[in-house]
Amino acid sequence: MSGHKKIIIGNWKMHFTVKQAAAFATKFISKSVPADVLVGVTPNCLALSEVSGVLSKSAINVVSQNAYYEDEGAFTGEVSMPMLRGLADFVLVGHSERRHILRESNDYTREKCAAAFRSNIVPILCVGETLVERQNYHTNQVLNDQLSVGLADLTTEEVSKMIIAYEPVWAIGTGEYARPEDVEKAVAKIRAEVTSLYGVIAGASVKVLYGGSVTRENARSYLEINGVDGLLVGGASLSVATFWPIVEIAGAVSSVNKQKKKEA
Ligand code: PGA
Repeated sequence: MSGHKKIIIGNWKMHFTVKQAAAFATKFISKSVPADVLVGVTPNCLALSEVSGVLSKSAINVVSQNAYYEDEGAFTGEVSMPMLRGLADFVLVGHSERRHILRESNDYTREKCAAAFRSNIVPILCVGETLVERQNYHTNQVLNDQLSVGLADLTTEEVSKMIIAYEPVWAIGTGEYARPEDVEKAVAKIRAEVTSLYGVIAGASVKVLYGGSVTRENARSYLEINGVDGLLVGGASLSVATFWPIVEIAGAVSSVNKQKKKEA
């Protein structure tokens, strides 16, 4: 476990117009973020600037859903990492919807993680197996491939600072959530792979999140897993009533962990 601080990121995906996103973000300003919880929201790229302005005086971080890996040039329709500077603190890389619907490869994620660090933005690299891969016992191989390629252009120091989200594809947006014992195994596998590639310090320092049908009802069972630093929340992040209780549960779990650390 890399620390008692918990990270809760709400992935808004392709929801909300600019106006709706700004109005939604406004609701968060009055919320007090619990000590030892990092909260982030993920507007679409049109709404990034507006939401970042609304949240500039709050403790809530802004996360970009995506960006291209070249810094500038003839790439019609793309947004670059340097364009996110000052607007987003983090960027999602290789979300399964981008891998499977938009056909992004592991090589793309490698380029994007490196591009994010060039612009001082922390990448959140999403990894995870499909249902077929799981049924064929390929989970470990998939995680190995996604990590060994995705992290390949980074330094040990960069890997130590980044976030990896374990999101089994079959559990995303399906209501089908992973058993905590399976998440624990996958997260241990992720840390072991990072350790074998970048050493013990990187393996212990990298932050690892779980994502896939997280709700206020099951959030605690994941947050209490050894090695899980937080959650990437999709559907439940689309309303304050379903998202904020998850942030509060994270606050409660991190203060218990802090106490345990003190007593140890
Ligand atoms: P979900 O999405 O919580 O709706 O399953 C998670 C994600 O895609 O990050």
